[in-house]
Amino acid sequence: MRIGFTLNGGEVAVDALPMARLLDVLREDLRVTGTKEGCGEGECGACTVLIDGRAVNACLVPVVQVQGAAVTTVEGLAAPEGRLHPVQAAFLTHGGAQCGICTPGFLVAAAELLAHTPRPTRPQVREALAGNLCRCTGYQKIVDAVVEALATEAGA
Ligand code: FES
Ligand code: FES
Repeated sequence: MRIGFTLNGGEVAVDALPMARLLDVLREDLRVTGTKEGCGEGECGACTVLIDGRAVNACLVPVVQVQGAAVTTVEGLAAPEGRLHPVQAAFLTHGGAQCGICTPGFLVAAAELLAHTPRPTRPQVREALAGNLCRCTGYQKIVDAVVEALATEAGA
């Protein structure tokens, strides 16, 4: 089946089985590999992408569901000229990434939060990121980064 959608602002079309996982189509058919696979079962958030602005686990989404939709992966967070998304810059400042396997998912989930809640409280950040797991950082630096992402942008 031919599936057409917008990926990080550009139109794409792929031939895929309708029930193929969006995660596999992104990584294997489209070679957009920033989105990671952790559990493959909807538990870890490593595969988080935005579909029409809403954070979802790409390992659970059949690609047919994004027909005509707008998909954003971690590759699409930075501005076209390369300026980092505020939360990307804040992760750098705060050391929010260690091994990095969880990082794309956290960045995408945080970007969704900041899109509708530009100045989130720590509880709001923790709630928004509750579906994303990290075995390295202890979460403190990640939460710090997201809380202060807007301040980072203002100081850039
Ligand atoms: S790989 Fe999708 S939630 Fe873990
Ligand atoms: S930085 Fe290693 S799992 Fe999060």
